[in-house]
Amino acid sequence: MDRNLALELVRVTEAAALACSRWVGKGNKMAADEAATDAMRRTLGSMDIKGTVVIGEGEMDEAPMLYIGEQVGNGDTHEVDIAVDPLEGTNICAKGMNGSIATIAIAPRGGFLHAPDMYMEKIAVGPTAKGAIDINASPTENLKRIAEAKKCYIEDLTVVILDRPRHDKIVSEIRKAGARIHLISDGDVAPAIAAAVAGSGVDMLMGIGGAPEGVLAAAALKCMGGDMQGRLVFLSREERDRAQSMGIEAFDRVYTAEDMAQGDVFFAATGVTNGDLLKGVRYFSGGGETHSIVMRSKSRTVRFIEAQHFFDHKPSL
Ligand code: FBP
Repeated sequence: MDRNLALELVRVTEAAALACSRWVGKGNKMAADEAATDAMRRTLGSMDIKGTVVIGEGEMDEAPMLYIGEQVGNGDTHEVDIAVDPLEGTNICAKGMNGSIATIAIAPRGGFLHAPDMYMEKIAVGPTAKGAIDINASPTENLKRIAEAKKCYIEDLTVVILDRPRHDKIVSEIRKAGARIHLISDGDVAPAIAAAVAGSGVDMLMGIGGAPEGVLAAAALKCMGGDMQGRLVFLSREERDRAQSMGIEAFDRVYTAEDMAQGDVFFAATGVTNGDLLKGVRYFSGGGETHSIVMRSKSRTVRFIEAQHFFDHKPSL
């Protein structure tokens, strides 16, 4: 694939972040998500790709834009599959809280796990702890192995977990083991990526979150040489049927980052509100500033991009 796609991708997440950042703190998550989705779709339309959305805003009958199966891009070459979350963390954006991002990943056709809109149990770490995680082992065992790999004490590790009653048991086990915990209200993609960024203050993401978000995190971690394991969590017979119709056969399979995002993968994200990984959108007279990360698995180049956008010169924003 053409390496310039990376810079094209970051334009897409910048546009989405700028669009929904107008809705930060306004209490309207639907409007924020719509603004991000609309901007992302518009920008994708000018990319030189022949893309199919495989992780998107929902099924065709429930999402007007960036639905699963939608064709995007204006090219004939670069047949790619696209995973998007135009606004990851709709609630946190609506409340003006930390951690929302606009994100996208692309892979060669067939490269992404077609994860249904359901839950996934996840465990994610950065490159220094690659090979140390095991989703079948206890949180304590994982912490021991990660501390060993990172040559530090368990007490030095920070684990990010979604603040949900379903995580009460692992939270108390992790506290007992001695690690620090950062409970978040929403948005588990950014902390999974932050675990792979030295100095971010995050060592690991653990717990159950969205499966589509799991695939996006896997794409990013693959680009960074990090490690991730995920297993789908089925809450009903319908979810199993749906997963089966999307090509999933082994229900208890443990997916690695490589299983979820195969081939030459590109990933980009732009901060909407501030977080451990990225700064949120800031405005100045006549423009706005964005902070993004963009990367490619083949080259393993990770770029952080701070961009200033001058609205008089960008009528589309
Ligand atoms: P939205 O951006 O769709 O609002 O969801 C964000 C999110 O917090 C994800 O980051 C996470 O994986 C999932 O929702 C958790 O789901 P739930 O809120 O049902 O626990």
